[in-house]
Parts: sequence; C-alpha cells; structure tokens
Amino acid sequence: MTIKPLVLLPDPILREPSKAVERVDDDLRRLADDMLETMYDAPGIGLAAIQIGEPIRMLVVDVSKDDEEKSPFVVINPEIVATGDDVSIYEEGCLSIPDYYAEVERPASVTVNYLDRDGAQQTLSADGMLATCVQHEIDHLNGVLFIDHISKLKRDMVIKKFTKLARQRGTTRL
Ligand code: NI
Repeated sequence: MTIKPLVLLPDPILREPSKAVERVDDDLRRLADDMLETMYDAPGIGLAAIQIGEPIRMLVVDVSKDDEEKSPFVVINPEIVATGDDVSIYEEGCLSIPDYYAEVERPASVTVNYLDRDGAQQTLSADGMLATCVQHEIDHLNGVLFIDHISKLKRDMVIKKFTKLARQRGTTRL
C-alpha cells in the first residue's frame, strides 16, 4: 500500500465530476487500499479518489473513534436514494483544504446504494457523523466541496488563502 500525495485547493481537478467505475478488479482494490492508507495517515475520516488525482466514483470512509476497532467502508458508484427530513450540523474539514473547518448543515440521515470492494451491490443507511461524511465525499465525486455550503464571503476568503499558499509552494496547476 502506498500513501499518495493529496490534491489541494485550488487545483481545478477538484471541480471535475468523476466518472463511474466500470469494473471492480484488483487494480481498483489496490487503489482503494492506497486511499485508506492515505486517509489514515493524514489522518482523516473520508477520502474521495479525486483527492489523489483519480477522477473515478470511489470513496473511502471510516468514522470509528481512536479507541474503537477500525471500520472502513469502500464505496463505489454511490447513489443517494433517500435523505431524512431532519438536518444536522457538523463542523467539517477536508484533506484537500487542510486546517480549515466550518459548520455545514446537511440531511441528518441518508440511504446510499453502492458497490463494495468485491463489486457486490450494497445499501448503507447512515446517520450521525457517517451520514455527514458520506455526503461530503459524494459531493467530491460531483466536483463539490464543503466550502460550497458556507457563505460566499467565507468561501472566497478560503480560496484566496489557499491560492496564495499554492503560489508560495510553486504549484503550477492553477
Ligand atoms: Ni473533503
């Protein structure tokens, strides 16, 4: 398994919609394992493939606490089939927007159909932190970032800050 470099704001690839996975094979499972290792190393609780530069519809999440056993999900071609009427607010962050956090309101529960790492059809009914995390990661597959859910004023400030940081790093892909 390999820890991959993370794609950071404002890299335009983060705004691209990812393509459906056509075949669940060993290469894809290897990529899923790399994503999990990259996520745990960061550390984070969710990662979409686009965040390591692969524009395909796959994400990994694990919202287990430090003192709990790991419970990773590999989620391929997810589709939200239902959302609850209640909303919840969590302070969110993103491995592509390091050290920035903001409260985001989302449906408190969500039902998602997806393929697991064996290519089997699964349904996940999530609430709490897992529901928020899965929605945040599915947003990534559609080129949407959590800062799109906050005020334009705050969003513009974050983008400006990260654009400046990217220039200082000498990142050319802007
Ligand atoms: Ni994110």
